[in-house]
Amino acid sequence: MDTMAHIQIERGASGRLARVLDREGLPPRAWVIADATVMRLHGERIVAGLARDGVSVRRRAVPPGEPSKSVAVAAELWVWLAAQGAERRDPIIALGGGVVGDIAGFVAATYLRGVPLIQVPTTLLAQIDSSVGGKVGVDLAAGKNLVGAFYPARRSVIDPNLLATLPRAQLVADYAEVIKTAVIFDADMFERIEANADALDDPALLEDLITRCVRWKARVVDEDPHDRGARAVLNYGHTIAHALEAVCGYGAYRHGEAVAIGMRGAAAIGVRAGTLAPGDADRQHALLRRVGLPQTYANAAPDDVVQAMQRDKKVRGGRIQWVLAERIGAASPGHHVDPTIVREVLHEIRAPAA
Ligand SMILES: NC(=O)c1ccc[n+]([C@@H]2O[C@H](COP(=O)([O-])OP(=O)(O)OC[C@H]3O[C@@H](n4cnc5c(N)ncnc54)[C@H](O)[C@@H]3O)[C@@H](O)[C@H]2O)c1
Ligand SMILES: [Zn+2]
Repeated sequence: MDTMAHIQIERGASGRLARVLDREGLPPRAWVIADATVMRLHGERIVAGLARDGVSVRRRAVPPGEPSKSVAVAAELWVWLAAQGAERRDPIIALGGGVVGDIAGFVAATYLRGVPLIQVPTTLLAQIDSSVGGKVGVDLAAGKNLVGAFYPARRSVIDPNLLATLPRAQLVADYAEVIKTAVIFDADMFERIEANADALDDPALLEDLITRCVRWKARVVDEDPHDRGARAVLNYGHTIAHALEAVCGYGAYRHGEAVAIGMRGAAAIGVRAGTLAPGDADRQHALLRRVGLPQTYANAAPDDVVQAMQRDKKVRGGRIQWVLAERIGAASPGHHVDPTIVREVLHEIRAPAA
């Protein structure tokens, strides 16, 4: 696979989608799916631009938020496409954050057994993570992402200008995944963020960081397209993050905030297990704090967090596989850690009672 060959990163690119369809040999007929917020902020303009460039385009908004990643919303979208006469060669344009990318991508993977998918991600998380790697799907009441497919986009059009309308708190939360990528792969990128931590929304900075994150993720995805091994390294910080999200309730933390706390925990575990020098853990801690990300959790008992980790779908044979950092810029998956160390760290990173 050559994931990068299907990705374009360019400021302003979302205003030139007709050209993308043309270059991909797709018919001038497109189905734009966005959430209501993104439709208002960017969709109207993008749809008008497509129409001006001769594309016949229909649009459909879903409610913003995770509940739209459901079988019920997928069914509504299938019914809409069928009623309007969408055909096999017609592209679906998924315009939005990870929620829309996943639901519209899932609909593209399944309607008529698959129609072309164009991803136009609009959150930092979606630009560096969810639009890269081909995973699409929906949630069930029993858990997130339980139904889905590997269905790589025909093209992902990443336009950093779309991030200008993101609420600050959302941008900051998504930076956790950027810093995660730097810790796993790229010491130079880590330094660049340290040097620019007071101007996180600078467009040139964002374009550079997005490009690097996408390249790193694409490399791992190409090595492991179906998530059977090498991709696991991307889960740095996520073992504790997923457990916190499950125990505290989705919504208590933004995903990136939970990841930031999880990274602190993973670094502390790395220090105790002897993979990571204390100085490197401190450096990660300092940068996450400076960016404005939480480094402690409250409202959960450490033992409940441990139990939730045991239930994670990525646990194999009852043993948690940890991703541990070796230094800033290098990490590896598949570590087994003494449960006593994990428990100690979960106590250490808990916010002191007020
Ligand atoms: N498929 C994958 O590989 C993958 C990877 C990581 C995460 N995900 C999924 O991604 C989802 C989270 O994605 P998300 O964090 O982007 O959430 P999201 O899609 O819900 O977007 C967050 C909020 O930001 C708003 N928004 C989006 N773009 C905006 C913009 N440009 N300006 C202003 N507001 C904007 C949305 O309306 C929404 O309210 C989860 O469902 C997660 O499971 C998927
Ligand atoms: Zn994540």
